[in-house]
Amino acid sequence: MRLDGRRIVVTAGPTLEPIDPVRFLSNRSSGNQGYAIAAALAARGADVVLVSGPTALAPPDGVARVDVETACEMLAAVETALPADVFIAVAAVADWRPAQSGAQKLSKAETGMTLQLVENPDILKTIAARPAGRPALVIGFAAETHDVLERARAKRLRKGCDWIVANDVSGDAMGGTHNAATLIRPDGENNWPRADKARIADQLAEAIADRLAKAPIT
Ligand code: C5P
Repeated sequence: MRLDGRRIVVTAGPTLEPIDPVRFLSNRSSGNQGYAIAAALAARGADVVLVSGPTALAPPDGVARVDVETACEMLAAVETALPADVFIAVAAVADWRPAQSGAQKLSKAETGMTLQLVENPDILKTIAARPAGRPALVIGFAAETHDVLERARAKRLRKGCDWIVANDVSGDAMGGTHNAATLIRPDGENNWPRADKARIADQLAEAIADRLAKAPIT
């Protein structure tokens, strides 16, 4: 099923939170899954904006990429890209950022070993809670190492998103090429066995196209 005329915003990759001009906090997200989702949606005709943290990947064909580094920049870029029919938060957003990231390189002698952190905005939760202009379908990801389904179901409710894709990252899913996932919807769940990330992406694109066809979003 096609997605022509649908606007979809996807976040992908890690965020990078500067400590000083030469150091940063980040994580091992490759961006593979988010880029694969953007490509699968564009292949079905959707108008896709991919808000991406730093990755080694080229933007998929037909996808408009907006490059960002920090979580705060990612949230601002997503808000700028709205309105959209669907928002999919795939990025591995850093939970915290350094309280200060000065223009000067920190030195051991001056700052010691304590790094003060402050919480980053939760992009998924913020977009899901928008009082006006909330995308009709908001989808999150839950990467878990244990109690995967229970934790993902609870996360769907906590974040206020409509669907959540649960994946078990106790193996090599994070940064790897393959993934096994469960799509959790309010009205049911689908198990997607371990497959390459392009296949998982295509199954998600299919589920979105089905949902939009069944209950058209105007
Ligand atoms: O809380 P946790 O990081 O496990 O939530 C994962 C989901 O929330 C993913 O969809 C991720 O993209 C999104 N997220 C976000 N902003 C954050 C943290 C997570 O959009 N600051």
